[in-house]
Amino acid sequence: MTPRTRSRTSPVPAIAVFCSGQGTNLQAILDAIRMKRLRARVGLVLSDRLGAKSLERARRAGAEARYVNPKDYASREAYEQALIALCDAQDVRLICLAGFMRMLSPFFVHHYPHRILNIHPALLPAFPGGHAVRDALAWGAKVTGVTVHFVDEEMDHGPIIVQAAVEIDGGESEASLLTKLHGVEYQLYPKAIQLVLDGRVRVDDRRVIYRTAAHP
Ligand code: GRF
Repeated sequence: MTPRTRSRTSPVPAIAVFCSGQGTNLQAILDAIRMKRLRARVGLVLSDRLGAKSLERARRAGAEARYVNPKDYASREAYEQALIALCDAQDVRLICLAGFMRMLSPFFVHHYPHRILNIHPALLPAFPGGHAVRDALAWGAKVTGVTVHFVDEEMDHGPIIVQAAVEIDGGESEASLLTKLHGVEYQLYPKAIQLVLDGRVRVDDRRVIYRTAAHP
C-alpha cells in the first residue's frame, strides 16, 4: 500500500520499541510521529534494564513503558512469552529494536516473521556486534554507516531494509563518529519503519525488494 492509497480512516498501527539504554532512537521515532513524518503509535516501550532513560522518554510521551526483568523468569522462553503477551496486548504490528542489548531466541523471532526490525551503527555485514563504531575506527575504514534490517536468528544478520553511508574523517574520534552516525539513524529508522508498515517491501530470501520505486 502506498501513502497515496493508504486510507485516512485505517487505524494507526502500533509499534513496540525495545531499548535497554538511552533511547535516543526511540526519541527520534516519537518525534517523527509527533511531526507526522511517521504514521504509527508507540504502543509499548520495553526495557530489560531498570532505570533505562528510554522508559522515562516513553512515559513523558504518554506511551506504555515496561521494565521486564529477565531474572524474574525461570527460562529465556518464559521471559520471551511475557514479552509476546505485552506486545500482543497492544496489537503491535512491528517490534523495533533500538539498542536492545539482548539476543532474541528463535522462539521469539519465529513468532513475528519479518516483523522485527533492528538498527545497527555500521554497514552490515561489516562490523557486527556491540562495538561497531570502535571496530570501524580500529579497522581504519574510510566509510561506515547505518543499517536497518529484519531480525533473524543470528545477530546483526537478517535481510537489509535500508543503509546509509557515513564518511570517517581523519582524526575522527569514537565520540564524533557516534554523533554523526546517530544523526543518520534518527532520520533513517522512522523512514524504514514507515516503509515496512506501508507494506512497501517484500522479502525474497536475503533480499528486501521495494514494491515501488520509492526509496527512503
Ligand atoms: C544505536 O546506535 C543503535 O544503532 C544501536 O544501539 C544504539 C542505541 O542508542 N543498536 P540509543 O539508545 O537509541 O541512544
